[in-house]
Amino acid sequence: MKILAIETSCDDTAVAVLENDRVLSSIVSSQIDLHKKWGGVVPDVAKRAHQDRIKPVIAEALKRASKTHPLIPSLEEGGENCENIFNKYLKNIDVIAVTQGPGLAIALGVGIGEAKELAEKYNKKLVAVNHIEGHILSNFLKNSKGKPDRKIEFPALILTVSGGHSDIVLMNDFGKYKIVGETLDDAGGEALDKASKMMGLGYPGGPVIERLAKTGDEEFLNLPRPMKGAKGFDYSFSGLKTSFYYTIKDWSKEKIGKNLANLAASFQVAVFDSLMGRYKKAIEEFNPKTLLVSGGVSANMKLRRQLRKMAKEMDLSIFFPYKKEWTTDNAAMIGVVAYHKALRGEFVEDLGDLDREARLKLV
Ligand code: KG4
Ligand code: ZN
Repeated sequence: MKILAIETSCDDTAVAVLENDRVLSSIVSSQIDLHKKWGGVVPDVAKRAHQDRIKPVIAEALKRASKTHPLIPSLEEGGENCENIFNKYLKNIDVIAVTQGPGLAIALGVGIGEAKELAEKYNKKLVAVNHIEGHILSNFLKNSKGKPDRKIEFPALILTVSGGHSDIVLMNDFGKYKIVGETLDDAGGEALDKASKMMGLGYPGGPVIERLAKTGDEEFLNLPRPMKGAKGFDYSFSGLKTSFYYTIKDWSKEKIGKNLANLAASFQVAVFDSLMGRYKKAIEEFNPKTLLVSGGVSANMKLRRQLRKMAKEMDLSIFFPYKKEWTTDNAAMIGVVAYHKALRGEFVEDLGDLDREARLKLV
């Protein structure tokens, strides 16, 4: 089954082509440079950038897939426009997949509009995908040669943390999920992004905090560990963010500048202690056979090391997305969800009924 997947839920215009769960091409056109100066994503700017980029990114993804896959004929270079490329390649695609939500409504609308247009014009089946299910299944993605060959046994317990969500999800099978814990306020990645902004480090915060924290003292500040000892498995990061804000609010620029590594290390360790603590408690409660970790924050090497150590001590296998680019937002993960939904016959019945759902729930 060949799938063309489109993802525009936030600030990345992403398109991928898959053969089942194998990724033939995956393109992410990042808008970070457009949003950086505002310290976060500006919805109108995101919408316009998606509109400008969506067709060229789809065309490029189709072209690249044709190079790795013999079933899609290769294209002679030169003189082609998006329309020609669509006409040439889309006949080889079986299913079109698109993110329905959750995310920024006006950004989601661009991808959905394009997916509907193509599905109608080229008479393709359409699958609507939940973005969080995409992050959950990113550990099932394989490269074009079918690697890695993982044995993922169910039930699996997933920790997925990004700029928009922090969830612990019990997965009994494809399409069978139970949300065990979620954030009551800010997401883990969002907390890192906000702390970064307070330190004048810009967006996104996770990668720059990771780099600075390497040489910093984690005990420099004594920050709270949110939800430690609380009932259940939910997260909360806004208290930590506020505590950090009040700690450095009256500091001069020089004092902040001199202590960037220490501030980054103290903040990062507080976020990770919280992520690890609640996840460990959930593992003890639900006894999963496999641990799966995903989302933008799972790109962090320090967090990975800590989680691997914990999994080893608990005698459990743990997986992270095989490629780092599959941790942050991408369309390949939307494609693999569509593959499993298509196997179950879960297609959009009436294109007119499909609408963006900014607050779409997983279950
Ligand atoms: O999954 P993603 O691309 O988008 C959302 O769905 O939100 O995740 C982006 C988030 C941002 O908050 C970013 O700061 C964080 O993931 N992130 C990281 C790292 N790389 C990205 N956090 C910690 N360490 C990283 N290396
Ligand atoms: Zn995401």
